[in-house]
Amino acid sequence: MGKAMIIGCGGVAGVTIHKCCQNSGVFEEILIASRTKEKCDALKAKLDGGPTKITTARVDADNTPELIDLIERFRPDVVVNLALPYQDLTVMDACLATKTHYVDTANYEPPDTAKFEYKWQWDYRERFRAAGITALLGCGFDPGVTGVFAAYAQKHYFDEIHTLDILDANAGDHGYPFATNFNPEINIREVTADGSYWENGRWVHTQPMEIKRVYNFPQIGEKDMYLLHHEELESLALNLRGIRRIRFFMTFGQSYLTHLKCLENVGMTSIQPIDYQGVKIVPLQFLKAVLPDPASLGPRTKGKTNIGCIFQGVKDGQPKTYYVYNVCDHQECYREVGSQAISYTTGVPAMIGAMLVMNGAWRAPGVFNVEQFDPDPFMDALNRWGLPWVEDFRPALVD
Ligand SMILES: NC(=O)c1ccc[n+]([C@@H]2O[C@H](COP(=O)([O-])OP(=O)(O)OC[C@H]3O[C@@H](n4cnc5c(N)ncnc54)[C@H](OP(=O)(O)O)[C@@H]3O)[C@@H](O)[C@H]2O)c1
Repeated sequence: MGKAMIIGCGGVAGVTIHKCCQNSGVFEEILIASRTKEKCDALKAKLDGGPTKITTARVDADNTPELIDLIERFRPDVVVNLALPYQDLTVMDACLATKTHYVDTANYEPPDTAKFEYKWQWDYRERFRAAGITALLGCGFDPGVTGVFAAYAQKHYFDEIHTLDILDANAGDHGYPFATNFNPEINIREVTADGSYWENGRWVHTQPMEIKRVYNFPQIGEKDMYLLHHEELESLALNLRGIRRIRFFMTFGQSYLTHLKCLENVGMTSIQPIDYQGVKIVPLQFLKAVLPDPASLGPRTKGKTNIGCIFQGVKDGQPKTYYVYNVCDHQECYREVGSQAISYTTGVPAMIGAMLVMNGAWRAPGVFNVEQFDPDPFMDALNRWGLPWVEDFRPALVD
């Protein structure tokens, strides 16, 4: 059917690229473009030989003219940005200049401020509309599938959704005392930030890890989970009919939390540059350099993830509860595409989003969050491409 340009060649991109090659009827050609071309070439060498034609290029995704030049030479139908959130705006600018559709998995945040929100990317709405191209934001698992689950619940099961709890559990064990499952810098910025949830039309702010609950997750068991601010809360608060409260919880083990607290206490998670022997370094970036590369955790990680949404609301005047979730096994992901489940659960939805933009099922001029499109083709694709979901109409609730 067409051509996709994938920016980045880390943990998530590796999965998306594998999945594009499995789906060669749609992805006839892909260009893998990233900062370190050797990584792109190594992946190409692994995947070459199938029907999808793969080419590679070096690109600095902070540099819009460089991106424009590459897009003009390759002429993709869609650009899938799987580098870091810092690059979202430069890549969107390049898509605008070349009238090319855009997909990402994480919303923009400025490198020097640990704050993510959709404002910067929503500001592109008019320009994307005028150019007649689609930007699909946050198409990983959370954000991404969680928004699709919400749109599916709204379409099929509820007249009004009143509360939504998003629960993200990772019971994977990689054997290291401390490592992160996706880019350490982005991950640590996210979990050390203040928490917040949306209730009755306003944000309620909390200290980091202030609110703890215990939940008994299907196929995983009982886990401690903590309330975090998360980006899909911002768009779902606008896009769900009748919504009164949305919260996001993520599980963390005690070892992770103890290490994180210690690193925070000694200043290693700071993003303020310091002078070290005449060189400016950002402590968090240095920490990233000494931590295990998330893409290397695949062979070591055992156990499962469970990510899903619990909804409460009304249908035909009756109260209703609905839980929809996916369980993903780290070792099965590794056997299939050589990665752990966190990269897998992000990389597969990114491929699905790109496919739906390419085949026109999810195409409209403007900038969109996933829950604004028809969830049905995405839900079908999740079952087909490795992330089957389970429904429960009598789940335990989170207090
Ligand atoms: N929505 C979700 O569910 C979800 C979940 C997890 C992660 N994510 C997002 O997924 C994205 C990728 O995460 P990851 O774990 O795959 O990260 P990663 O392993 O660190 O990979 C990032 C890739 O981007 C490349 N890159 C960084 N800066 C670049 C630049 N200026 N120009 C070109 N390439 C650049 C890196 O190049 P090098 O190889 O040279 O370092 C690397 O290949 C992040 O935005 C993350 O926030 C979303």
